[in-house]
Amino acid sequence: MQNTLNQSILPYTAKVNDQNHLEIGGCDTVELVKKYGTPLYVYDEEGIRTCCKQFKDAFSAYEDVSILYASKAFMTRAICKIIKDECLGLDVVSGGEIYTAINSGFPMQKCYFNGNNKTPEELELALYCNIGRITVDNFYELDLLDKVAKNSDKTVDILLRITPGLDCHTHEYIKTGQVDSKFGFDLSQIDEAVYKIKNEYTNLSLKGLHAHIGSQIFEKNVYTDLIGILAEQYHAIYEKYEIQLAEMNLGGGIGVKHTEDEDPLSIYEMANVIIAAFRENIDKYGLGKLKLAIEPGRSIICNSGVTLYTAGSYKQVPDGRKYIAVDGGMSDNPRPSMYQAKYTAIIANKANDKAEETVTIAGRYCESGDILIQDINLPEISSGDIICIPATGAYNYSMASQYNRVPRPAAIVVHKGRSDVIIKREVYQDLIAFDVIPERLAKSGCSCI
Ligand SMILES: Cc1ncc(COP(=O)(O)O)c(C=O)c1O
Repeated sequence: MQNTLNQSILPYTAKVNDQNHLEIGGCDTVELVKKYGTPLYVYDEEGIRTCCKQFKDAFSAYEDVSILYASKAFMTRAICKIIKDECLGLDVVSGGEIYTAINSGFPMQKCYFNGNNKTPEELELALYCNIGRITVDNFYELDLLDKVAKNSDKTVDILLRITPGLDCHTHEYIKTGQVDSKFGFDLSQIDEAVYKIKNEYTNLSLKGLHAHIGSQIFEKNVYTDLIGILAEQYHAIYEKYEIQLAEMNLGGGIGVKHTEDEDPLSIYEMANVIIAAFRENIDKYGLGKLKLAIEPGRSIICNSGVTLYTAGSYKQVPDGRKYIAVDGGMSDNPRPSMYQAKYTAIIANKANDKAEETVTIAGRYCESGDILIQDINLPEISSGDIICIPATGAYNYSMASQYNRVPRPAAIVVHKGRSDVIIKREVYQDLIAFDVIPERLAKSGCSCI
C-alpha cells in the first residue's frame, strides 16, 4: 500500500544537494540560515499540500467525509490559506484561532469549534461568524451555549464530545479518551444531555457525537472500537428520542514518525480500517446516511516542518557525555521536556557525512531538562554547524514561549526554490511591547546610594 507523508521523518521535498547540504522545497537550508537566521522553522509547502491530498484520496472511498485540519498543531494565516486551497475544513479551539481563520478568509461554515471551557465571548464570536459546528464538552456549556444562542436569536448545530472509555497507548498528557478525563461527557451522561437538548434547549440542534481519544496513535483497533461505541449510542438515541444523527466525528490522533523507532500506519491503512468499521456499524445499527468527520492535526503538518539551529557552545563531561548546545530548545520545542518526545537530527551543512560521535543536543534555556536529543550519533559537530531537527512541524511553534526572554523564532514556507516568511522573527522590542511600568514605579528612585 502507498506510503504517506506521516511515515517519513524528512519533508516530502527534502534531499541532499551536491554541496552536501540539506535542501527543502528546492532551497538550500544553509542559504536559508544566512538569510533568516536561527532558530528557524521551515515548512515544505508541497509536503503540506501533498499530505492534504493523501488524506482526501484515502478517505474518498467513503461518500460523505469532512477532513478538518486541527489548527492547534500549527496555525498562521498562510497555513489557513493553504488548508483552504486544499478544500479541507478547520478544527479550532479558541477565539484566537477563530479570529485567525476569519482574518485569512477561511469559510467559517467549514470550521468546528472544540474546547472544554469556551468563554461566553468566544461562543458569541463563533455564532457571529456562523461557524459550522460547536462541539459541546459538558453540561455547563450546553446551558451557556443555549443562552448565548437565544441572545443572538440563532439555532446552533452542535456535537456532543464523548469520553468513550478507551485507552490508547500514548503518553499520559496526550491521551484523552479514558473515563477520568477533563474532556467531554461520560457515556452514562449522554442520555441526560440528549433529553435536555430535545426538551429544554430550544436553540441547539444536535447533529452528532464527537470523540478524540488521544494523539500519536499507532494502533488501528482503537478507531474500530471507538466507532462501535459511538454507533451503539446513535442507535440508542434514535430508539429513545427518534433523533437521527447526521454525522460522527472521530477527532484526530493519527501517529507520525519522528524517529526510526516509530512505525506509524499510513493514512490509507487508517482510512481503510475506519471506513470499513463505519460501514459495518451503519449496517449493524441501521444508521442510514451518516457523515464521517475527522480532525487530523499532527499527521497533516508535523513531517513537513523542520527546525534549524546553530550549534554554539559544547562541553565534554570528564568520562561522561558530550553536550552540544544550540540557540533554541524548550521554548521553541517543548515536547521533549514536556512528554519525553524523541527526535533525530541531521547536520544540515554536512548532510551525508558519516556519524563519528555520540552527543547530546542541549537547548539554551535555564533548565536542566532542556535537552532536545539525548545520545545521538552524528558526524563531528563544530560550533557554527547547522543542526536540523526534522518532524517538528506540529505543536512546536503553537506551544512556543518567550521563556528566559528569548524572542520566538521566525517560520518560513519553502516551495520550488522560493522561501517566504509566514511568521516574523520576534525582536527585543516585542518582548517589552506589553510590559507596563505603573506611573508610581516610574517615578520612584533608588535610595540605597
Ligand atoms: C478535539 C481534538 N481534535 C483533534 C486533535 C488533533 O490531534 P492530532 O494532532 O493528534 O491529530 C486534537 C488534539 O489535541 C483534539 O484535542
